[in-house]
Amino acid sequence: MTKTLIRGRLLSFLRRPEALDDATSYRYEEDGGLLVADGRIIAVGAYETVRAGVPEDVEEIDHRPHLILPGLIDTHVHFPQMQVIGSYAANLLEWLNTYTFPEECRFVESEHAARIARHFYDELLRQGTTTAVAYCSVHKTSADAYFAEALKRGMRMIGGKVMMDRNAPQGLLDTPEMGYDETRAVIAEWHGKGRNHVAITPRFAITSTRAQMEMAAALAREFPDLHIQTHLSENHDEIRFTGELYPDAIDYTDVYARYGLLGPRSLFGHCIHLSEREADAMSAAGAVAVHCPTSNLFLGSGLFPLKALSRRERPVRIAVATDIGGGTSYSMLKTLDEAYKIQQLLGERLNPFESFYHMTLGNAEALSLSDSIGTLEVGTDADFVVLDAAATPAMALKMEVVRSLADELFLLQTLGDDRAVRETYVAGKPLKALI
Ligand code: GUN
Ligand code: ZN
Repeated sequence: MTKTLIRGRLLSFLRRPEALDDATSYRYEEDGGLLVADGRIIAVGAYETVRAGVPEDVEEIDHRPHLILPGLIDTHVHFPQMQVIGSYAANLLEWLNTYTFPEECRFVESEHAARIARHFYDELLRQGTTTAVAYCSVHKTSADAYFAEALKRGMRMIGGKVMMDRNAPQGLLDTPEMGYDETRAVIAEWHGKGRNHVAITPRFAITSTRAQMEMAAALAREFPDLHIQTHLSENHDEIRFTGELYPDAIDYTDVYARYGLLGPRSLFGHCIHLSEREADAMSAAGAVAVHCPTSNLFLGSGLFPLKALSRRERPVRIAVATDIGGGTSYSMLKTLDEAYKIQQLLGERLNPFESFYHMTLGNAEALSLSDSIGTLEVGTDADFVVLDAAATPAMALKMEVVRSLADELFLLQTLGDDRAVRETYVAGKPLKALI
């Protein structure tokens, strides 16, 4: 069993930080050692202690003075929208109809899907993201390309073939039966293969008929361990249209609840305009609201009340995500930078420890995967990222006056991007260097 010892400043979270001075919410090792074998972390702690337990000639990689954190996690991203990013539109529905749906039609071609999948994984690794939860297109070819590339890279990835059978161009529609059969086929071929997880993925209520929602409900019953992902309460016109399509439902959240799609493995993109009743229903179900700050700002969708939702008497579980291509950055650092600014506008504070908790352990907990990712605990997957807070001239200058770990994290979040990512390890292997 080949072992590798990785040295650097280690930071990982144990739980959500309550405040800036909540020092027991994380573990920080100024001179730390991570011992990795067979894709897992087998020892972690002070460098000298870990070093003492291994033979003299063990391979050693020294990342000092940089920070080593668990690999970053992106919980909502559209892999077929790499060429949609930065499309000029007034709002969500115009953006979908004008740019997004036509672009996704191209993923019927397996060569195109395979090419974009290669770029997609290169970009994740460049940004320090080691796990993502993606929407593929409606075409099974896109899910095949997505999971095949994940398998090649050895990454823990979640994704699903989108189900959509109305209110989109013909080239982007399946049928209730096709959506069901092809999702089952994707599960059979890919779920549990390598580190792949398949998610049941009805795009959103507007693009699924009741018959298709019944099929999604059947899948959720048959595969209760799978994640479910969809969109909820992103835009006022979307909410209004959904109400017209599902007049029996109490509200938008209730549409999904009626089809058995509201549960602890359910990831709802956006959730910006939830009523108190909807937030209560989300909380009771243990469902996750996925905050997509750069997308919400870019499409003018609204300001997600992250702090307000998490400190309710009945709190809502929160995840954070890029939402490429509505989102404008692949970087989870930039994503939390924008999340911070949104909280500022709402009169709330998001401290840097909370931000880095959200991109690592917080997102792993939201995915119910914190026993394998999002931490540097022994026995978990050796997915981690090496961050350099002095990566650019402007960052290096600011670093001259940084005196605390909190300030260093805040600098990374505010000025950092892929240039601050020195290396990205997947299952113990440095993969950014190979791009
Ligand atoms: N709602 C339904 N589909 C999409 C999508 O692709 N992006 C965003 N931001 N919202 C959606
Ligand atoms: Zn989305």
